[in-house]
Amino acid sequence: MPDSTMTTPNSIDLADFAVGLPKAELHLHLEGTLEPELKFALAARNGIQLPESTVDEVRATYDFTDLTSFLAVYYPAMRVLVTPEDFHDLAWDYLQRAATQGVVHAELFFDPQAHTSRGVPFADVIGGYRRAIVRAEKELGVSAELVLCFLRDFSAEYAMATLMEALPYKQWIVGVGLDSDERGNPPAKFTDVFARARAEGFLLTMHCDIDQPGSIEHIRQVIEDIGVDRIDHGTNILEDDRLVEIVRERGIGLTCCPVSNSFVTAQMKADEIVALLRRGIRVTINSDDPAYFGGYVADNYVALAREAGLDAATLAQLAVNSFEASWLTPGRAAAYVERVRGYAAQHGVDLPAS
Ligand code: ADE
Ligand code: ZN
Repeated sequence: MPDSTMTTPNSIDLADFAVGLPKAELHLHLEGTLEPELKFALAARNGIQLPESTVDEVRATYDFTDLTSFLAVYYPAMRVLVTPEDFHDLAWDYLQRAATQGVVHAELFFDPQAHTSRGVPFADVIGGYRRAIVRAEKELGVSAELVLCFLRDFSAEYAMATLMEALPYKQWIVGVGLDSDERGNPPAKFTDVFARARAEGFLLTMHCDIDQPGSIEHIRQVIEDIGVDRIDHGTNILEDDRLVEIVRERGIGLTCCPVSNSFVTAQMKADEIVALLRRGIRVTINSDDPAYFGGYVADNYVALAREAGLDAATLAQLAVNSFEASWLTPGRAAAYVERVRGYAAQHGVDLPAS
């Protein structure tokens, strides 16, 4: 845990330090990386008419006040994604950008039902994404895995059917998640789907979005009833010391997204994120839907550091957490942690031995 014994030389530029820091991105929706420029290019390629004609007009629609108003903009934009090539281009653009932000490993959410519900074959979605991942490993030295998310505002039956559809592609999918509109859609709705996913060998994560009706009960369900390996967002856990203690003991990672928080709630929730970190929780920092919220992962590290007055050693600790909470094999995770330690040492930043 970061503490006052860590040294942060004054000469370090935190933004440069954050960009160069090797890190894993664990909470990134591929469909949330659709930048307006690519949206226009794909619309033109697929002969789709868009209501907006400039990038500024697109950005003017990003007027979110909560999760629901964000999702109302997010899903309609996806209709430009049609062919395997489109999914490849989306993921490839993201992975190149991630490499410039110091990402060396990424576990990427994708929402197949946002496409199959429009008639796009599952095989085309995953085929395009997978091709970009293989290419990134080869050309960028960035490793990546896919995490299939079920849309919680669709039925449990549709989620189960999607899980069955995914089984032939098991070797390309490390885990399953749950996203979309949480109101009225508790984790318990998907207990059977997640039990089956676990039995099929997938790791499990679920969104517990910020300040939702029933947030703390949803967090309890994912921990005690579903038995997740990670929680996405989940900062409302601070409302229940007992759950904080369980998450700490089990080493369950929390994938926090400060810039996204500031769009779907009134603030970054920096105090909550730092409080959890100081209590020994495996907090990680991530970008969620960067094309919409305007911050890729290093930007999130910097935004949080500025808001909460964090030093370089704490940013390095967050990067260590990103590998320890990842779904890499323990050996690969440990090798990346050593890279973080080496990078910190090179910059004169001390991290306590773990
Ligand atoms: N889908 C994309 N981003 C999401 C978020 N932050 N919460 C829930 N569902 C999402
Ligand atoms: Zn998310």
